[in-house]
Amino acid sequence: MRSTTSNELRSLYLEFFQEHGHAVIPSASLIPENDPTVLFTTAGMHPLVPYLLGSPHPVGKRLTDVQKCVRTSDIDEVGDASHLTFFEMLGNWSLGDYFKREAIAWSWEFLTSDRWLGIPQDELAFSVFIGDENAPRDDVSFKLWRDQGVPAERIFYLPKENNWWGPAGLTGPCGPDTEMFIITDKEPCGPDCSPACSCGRYLEIWNDVFMQYNKIADGTLVPLPAPNVDTGMGLERTLCVLTGKKSVYETDLFVPILDKIAELTGKVYGSDEETTKAFRIVADHVRTSVFLIGDPRGVTPSNVDQGYVLRRLIRRAVRHGMKLGAPEGFIARIADVIIAGYCGVYPELGKAADFIKEQLLLEEGRFQRTLQQGTREFEKAASRLTGGTIDGLTAFHLYDTYGFPIEITAELARERGLSVDEAGFRERFAAHQERSHAGAEQRFKGGLVDASDQTARLHTATHLLHAALRRVLGNDVAQKGSNITAERLRFDFSFGRKMTKDELAEVERLVNESIQADHPIDCREMTVDEARGEGAIGLFESKYGDRVKVYTMGTVSKEICGGPHASHTGELVSFKIQKEEASSAGVRRIRAVIGASSDGAGA
Ligand code: SER
Repeated sequence: MRSTTSNELRSLYLEFFQEHGHAVIPSASLIPENDPTVLFTTAGMHPLVPYLLGSPHPVGKRLTDVQKCVRTSDIDEVGDASHLTFFEMLGNWSLGDYFKREAIAWSWEFLTSDRWLGIPQDELAFSVFIGDENAPRDDVSFKLWRDQGVPAERIFYLPKENNWWGPAGLTGPCGPDTEMFIITDKEPCGPDCSPACSCGRYLEIWNDVFMQYNKIADGTLVPLPAPNVDTGMGLERTLCVLTGKKSVYETDLFVPILDKIAELTGKVYGSDEETTKAFRIVADHVRTSVFLIGDPRGVTPSNVDQGYVLRRLIRRAVRHGMKLGAPEGFIARIADVIIAGYCGVYPELGKAADFIKEQLLLEEGRFQRTLQQGTREFEKAASRLTGGTIDGLTAFHLYDTYGFPIEITAELARERGLSVDEAGFRERFAAHQERSHAGAEQRFKGGLVDASDQTARLHTATHLLHAALRRVLGNDVAQKGSNITAERLRFDFSFGRKMTKDELAEVERLVNESIQADHPIDCREMTVDEARGEGAIGLFESKYGDRVKVYTMGTVSKEICGGPHASHTGELVSFKIQKEEASSAGVRRIRAVIGASSDGAGA
């Protein structure tokens, strides 16, 4: 088996699939562009959903990439050997092109050939879908593994909970998968030991999903016109297995980070369980924070949505760093090591290095200022307790006055054998804030893009709004993010102050003028250079491959975008701004509705 480095594994993977006719596409942003249901890109397939549902991709039908992903639903597990909030996913896609035969043959070749990973054949096991009332048993994949010479006893038929992927939300592309496992030297845990148990004998390294269906709102699986392949190999986990390390933190991706933490704190990683856990939490959380702030759709700490998750990651890292005795400002010094390690692969981090460190220092400072006071408050509240529970009002007070995310209050409580009335906290929080972070948390566990007509129209409205803002406020205005639900759009953009009433009225008027003009919406594919030459706006960096889609709406808007859109601007009927507010430093947020709506809501 090849002992490899992270850089080598990324390159090998892309090179292998390039040799098999795949175009390498850059990682998309960590912030989904047009998906109201999730806060972060959680899997390699996520930015490709429109193409998995049938839109043609500008660079072709065979794609491969390394996608940045963030999953925070298991944040409390971070600290053990394998959980991470940020990871990279190696993937290859067939958009209605090849299917099971090629996908399985290539997976086998990449895993076992000495030219590639060279894993001994008898150290690999596989699982395939056993079938249920909705979809048949996947005998085809079973046979394809057998054809590669895999003995039947190393191919396991497993149920939906193990061998089905997607949709990540309620609707979207999905299908059976076949998973690949390294067999460790752990003895089987019993006669039924299989990749489905978590005893540690089988470690999953790759998943080939055969996306044959689109799950629609009533739960029916509708066969896709052309079935796709979506595969995902977690870089950190695979690297850990290939190099025989006990945890992902011992791979070359983390060693320099842990060394820096040791240097800053004088503590030794691995000296005891608690120290090890704190090192891992700091390393993981700072790494994720660096990627979020340094993303082309950069996130900054705030009290809602992605900004709230970022705040929580930084504050948790600060707390665990302080436990280790780290000096003030340590987070930014750890960020330096992370940026240096990754900027070759993700140049956006190098470019944003100063901004990343500044944001980390600011948030650390904000938190340090309130932490001691808040901890004293917490201790007072804890000492007043008659039962073992911190009530919701106290938890909310700690949040509101001392900036304690509920998770930190809960963690402090746990450390003292207490619990927190989180439901009570959330009730007060929701009453106090228009958008509670509880809602945000549900969303980031949730699903994928809603490709309805209304979403497409709202998406079109963001382009018109973007263009109007630039006309009224100047061309320095740039989109920083957007979020669309079935009812409204939200648009974040760079601008240093509150907009005046007149400016808002003018922006609204311009958008309505564009709607009334009923411009046809034209989509053309071209290279990034051509798009730039034509004066298209949009995120040019590390989002798409060489060829991009440019949407033009009359003479009003020309923007690089993945779509989908309305076909004429008149479909939007009318446009109304409901609110303009600060989103984070230097970023404003507009919330708006359109007249065309399935439920009659809107302007
Ligand atoms: N979508 C699958 C996963 O995330 C394969 O890429 O595991």
